Amino acid sequence: MPRLVPLIVLFVSSLAYYYYYSNFVKPNRTNIDPKFRSEQIENVIIQTWTDYKLNGWGKDIYHPINHRTSRNMPISGEPLGWIIIDALDTLLYVHSYSKNQTIKENMQQEIENVADWCINTLNYDIDTNVNIFETTIRMLGGLLSSYYLTETTYSHNNRSTNNNNTLDSKIFLEKAIDLADRLIPAFNQSATGIPYSSVNLHSGDAKRNRADMGTSSTAEFTTLQLEFKYLSILTGDDKYWKYTESVYEPLYTNNNLIDLYDSLIPIYTFPNTGKFYTRNIRMGSRGDSFYEYLLKQYLFTHETLYYQLYRKAMDGMKRHLLRQSSPNRLVYIAERPFGLNNIHSSKMDHLVCFMGGLLAMGATEGITISKARTMDWWNYEREQDWLLAQELTYTCYQMYKQTPTGLAPEIVVFNDPESAEARRFNPKNTNWWISPTKDFAIKPLDAHNLQRPETVESIMILYHITKDKKYRQWGAEILDSFIKHSCIHCDEPNLITYTSLDNMIQIPTKKKDNLESFWIAETLKYLYLLFQDDFDLTKVVFNTEAHPFPVISEELLKKLNLTTGWNI
Ligand SMILES: *[C@@H]1O[C@H](CO)[C@@H](O)[C@H](O)[C@H]1NC(C)=O
Ligand SMILES: *[C@@H]1O[C@H](CO)[C@@H](O)[C@H](O)[C@H]1NC(C)=O
Ligand SMILES: *[C@@H]1O[C@H](CO)[C@@H](O)[C@H](O)[C@H]1NC(C)=O
Ligand SMILES: *[C@@H]1O[C@H](CO)[C@@H](O)[C@H](O)[C@H]1NC(C)=O
Ligand SMILES: *[C@@H]1O[C@H](CO)[C@@H](O)[C@H](O)[C@H]1NC(C)=O
Repeated sequence: MPRLVPLIVLFVSSLAYYYYYSNFVKPNRTNIDPKFRSEQIENVIIQTWTDYKLNGWGKDIYHPINHRTSRNMPISGEPLGWIIIDALDTLLYVHSYSKNQTIKENMQQEIENVADWCINTLNYDIDTNVNIFETTIRMLGGLLSSYYLTETTYSHNNRSTNNNNTLDSKIFLEKAIDLADRLIPAFNQSATGIPYSSVNLHSGDAKRNRADMGTSSTAEFTTLQLEFKYLSILTGDDKYWKYTESVYEPLYTNNNLIDLYDSLIPIYTFPNTGKFYTRNIRMGSRGDSFYEYLLKQYLFTHETLYYQLYRKAMDGMKRHLLRQSSPNRLVYIAERPFGLNNIHSSKMDHLVCFMGGLLAMGATEGITISKARTMDWWNYEREQDWLLAQELTYTCYQMYKQTPTGLAPEIVVFNDPESAEARRFNPKNTNWWISPTKDFAIKPLDAHNLQRPETVESIMILYHITKDKKYRQWGAEILDSFIKHSCIHCDEPNLITYTSLDNMIQIPTKKKDNLESFWIAETLKYLYLLFQDDFDLTKVVFNTEAHPFPVISEELLKKLNLTTGWNI
């Protein structure tokens, strides 16, 4: 197997980009004052939340332009709390960090309203099928992190300011347990324990995916473990831990994943055999968070098996997927749609942009890079991961920086003469939008922008690991672009809100009239944390929907008798 990006090339190219960055792209002098930016982001969060509250409250799907709600996630009509529960811990962070007493009190009121809504309205006993993965990461994750934050910073804050804390955080834990108990029956209905893609919340019957030969997305059933493990820790009941952990053994063993696939997963799996369907390998949709949760389980519970599996997957990624664009050698992660030994595609989803932050967390485990380099566990692999983390984050920043609006599309295609898409970079036979430096292109159907979080997530993590103001600069530019190009009623302070885009190339942008729940849950939260000086990456692990869980001590796990129950 050729080593696609020799490490020396990585090193030279990183010098090249510093040179390029410092000499040719004169950055605007964006205001990166943390006080100014924090207040600005607080306002954007409050504007989005207020508009939803006034015009879409209680509905899972909201169209902010027409002020319409179309339906709830369950076809039967009851809400899952899609936007409310997903947003709640962002409101909790604002409540805890804001320096403005009016905003703090406003947030306290909103948080108590949500708690009341959970008590009086939210009911998970619904006769409807829900996607297990989406429901776990957004609803179960949001309830658990809200429980964690209300039990810790929120009640502490209110005690210290002499406010009456009328909120009983137990409601979030009770709802989480109720929801989890409705999802967990899905884990013993296939022959391997790998769940089908959805489950009926009332009956517990699991249902196969209707497309893709009835397979489950590989990343979906490997992105449930943080949430269910945390619930085992909170309740002392190990069933959540055991059921969700049990998917790994069939996945690794029945496919010989380490030897035959170099630890890189095809994106579909048959639940009854654990075997892969097709050879399509990518770090974008249906692949991404498999890698994320290997590392994050290690960061959360310090189970060393998961660091070893993560290490192997990252080494496989470096061998088979890492490429550089032409002419400026932007490092990117390619796809292998026909298996590891066939031609690569230079398409990269915006979703892949979480990898910069993940590699950085894997390298330093959340402490600053200067401190990490003095630790006895610092080594060559971690140094290489760190270099790559910076490269990939820079590439993702370029996906914003080079477009007319300063916003990235859903998918880009890199200019790579050896890729399947190479000929489309010839201006004669393309209707693709080509970036000013010619390093990447956007297909007409991929020019939408859903206000996704992955790039600002990586930027936030790299800022806290380096304290390099360059990252606040990048985040501020992206924030300004969102404010300018995804706003509705932009000049009316009492009506302004934000929406997804159908087209992020043309100005004015073509609006999509849809509020994705991760705009508040993730994108605005990560931007907000980028500007909090005392935020500590070693204290929490974010689930894949940006819901924070506290890092668990080994003593607590021992006390609860929770340990890794399998091996390779
Ligand atoms: C600087 O910012 C202004 C306003 O946001 C924008 O119009 C201009 O294109 C930016 N310049 C560069 C070099 O990015
Ligand atoms: C606090 O926030 C409110 C609402 O956004 C604003 O009207 C007020 O001016 C702010 N107060 C201070 C001291 O910044
Ligand atoms: C706080 O609680 C006390 C005693 O229960 C009550 O007298 C007071 O009015 C409460 N204050 C607020 C602001 O709710
Ligand atoms: C599956 O799990 C449910 C509840 O967790 C349990 O009642 C049932 O006996 C289990 N069935 C099998 C076949 O293990
Ligand atoms: C701890 O868990 C292991 C594995 O699940 C089990 O075999 C053992 O009996 C448990 N020990 C206690 C004290 O509960």
